[in-house]
Amino acid sequence: MRRGKFITLEGADGSGKSTQAALLAEGLENSGLDVTLTREPGGAPGAEQIRSLLVEGETQRWSPLSEALLHYAARREHMDKTILPALETGKWVISDRFADSTMAYQGFGHQLGRNQVARIHDVVVGGFAPDLTIIFDISVEEGLKRAASRTGNEDRYERMDKDFHARLCKGFLEIARQNPDRCAVIDALGEIAGIQILILDLVKKRFELELS
Ligand SMILES: Nc1ncnc2c1ncn2[C@@H]1O[C@H](COP(=O)(O)OP(=O)(O)OP(=O)(O)O)[C@@H](O)[C@H]1O
Ligand SMILES: [Mg+2]
Repeated sequence: MRRGKFITLEGADGSGKSTQAALLAEGLENSGLDVTLTREPGGAPGAEQIRSLLVEGETQRWSPLSEALLHYAARREHMDKTILPALETGKWVISDRFADSTMAYQGFGHQLGRNQVARIHDVVVGGFAPDLTIIFDISVEEGLKRAASRTGNEDRYERMDKDFHARLCKGFLEIARQNPDRCAVIDALGEIAGIQILILDLVKKRFELELS
């Protein structure tokens, strides 16, 4: 069985990842591909439990290193229980956030530093990496405005201060600069339908697909 492709969507809060992840999954499925749509933190039972610890509650409840480790514990569960089995059975996996978010939020946002996050990454994830990462570029103000329009109590990161968000936005662009073969940056300010077409186009070209 031919291994599926692993596509991740990354970017700040409210940049449109979840919206576009669902549309991309639909687009690929309509073209006959078998797709697993998943998310981080979460995407597996244990990882979803860890998610609550990360996205709810007081902004200061974790030290940056503990926070990074919780994300990586959830990520390993996600890989073992969901991502790797799906890829091995030929499914395409679309993940709404993956490891670049930890580098951006904890490495850049909390200023844990690139090296510290990279060392944890090596131990937990090793050489495994997405085949394509789409990074949503958005201003802090617009992202937080959009994120605030959603309901629910998963707003712990959104409640962190503006400087934190400014650092992580820059962090995502820095990650894209350092990984030009894997990452494509898209302007998240466009219309939902326009971005949807752009992403499907990007995926078609990247993987030489003949999609309808
Ligand atoms: N291109 C767009 N233009 C205007 N509004 C958008 C656009 N894309 C998404 N939205 C809206 O902005 C809000 C946030 O979008 P979405 O939940 O997809 O962002 P997200 O990146 O998944 O955020 P988070 O990281 O907080 O989960 C939603 O209400 C969504 O409908
Ligand atoms: Mg989302």
